[in-house]
Amino acid sequence: MDVIRNVRQMQDAAAVVKRSGRRTALVPTMGALHEGHVALIRAAHAKGAAVAVSIFVNPAQFAPHEDFKRYPRPFEADTALCEREGVAVVFAPAAEDVYALNASTWVEETIVAKRLEGERRPQFFRGVCTVVAKLFAILQPDVAVFGMKDYQQLKVVQRLARDLCFGVEIVPVPTVREADGLALSSRNQYLDESERAQATVIFKALRVAQSMFNAGENNAHQLATAMMRTVEIAPTARLDYAELAGGETLEPITEVKRGDVALIAAYLGKTRLIDNLVL
Ligand code: PAJ
Repeated sequence: MDVIRNVRQMQDAAAVVKRSGRRTALVPTMGALHEGHVALIRAAHAKGAAVAVSIFVNPAQFAPHEDFKRYPRPFEADTALCEREGVAVVFAPAAEDVYALNASTWVEETIVAKRLEGERRPQFFRGVCTVVAKLFAILQPDVAVFGMKDYQQLKVVQRLARDLCFGVEIVPVPTVREADGLALSSRNQYLDESERAQATVIFKALRVAQSMFNAGENNAHQLATAMMRTVEIAPTARLDYAELAGGETLEPITEVKRGDVALIAAYLGKTRLIDNLVL
């Protein structure tokens, strides 16, 4: 397995693979890899491609008050995991190499990115779109794999790939969860024991919405209220949002139908977690 830390070298290496006629699949990550990321790597392999994993804690998607500095960076463990999973190349560039000091070009998706996460974290999707566009430009993958855990991000990236003609197939992978339902996330490491125990209310709330919907309730307000009440059962949980939205553009809805999505963001202590369930 190669570890490449430089943009130019990555471009050259990707060009060599392309010339050999081999398909390539990219799994973009910020590292602190867990079983969720492993599922993405395996989905990339299933596409019969040489797999590249990028590990880059992208400064552009963090607001100044967010956890950029504190974000876990267990690089040795991450590369060992990639090696075990048969990854061909880990691309882990330095921030200065990805963003020139006087960089003045940014990529923005203007519909799906506006609500929910985009409303609470105004810089977030611009940062994600810019770095994902750069990764697509550098590696020119045939396939790129994204998790449904970050459902809005997946939908934004699908539009980015289509609208900017990257010609990359975006492969979505279902959310990998702990036995008690908590979605795996690099940020779960921030939770203390009590917060971790209470974090299960997020998935419980999504399941409440799903079972109400399955039982015939299609009023979005009713489902959102039930989710809110469930999250509130945990004393250290503070709800950021609990909403129902259209499954493609995440527009607000009043009447829920199959394929719409329930989304939750909540703080457990200081840690902000997100999760969702497609109904
Ligand atoms: P990161 O949070 O490291 O996630 C990388 C990829 O793993 C994303 O596509 C995410 O949806 C997926 N993922 C995370 N947890 C998952 C889980 N429990 N089950 C399935 N997939 C999961 O998302 C980012 O990094 C960044 O925003 C990035 C796209 C790399 C751009 O910087």
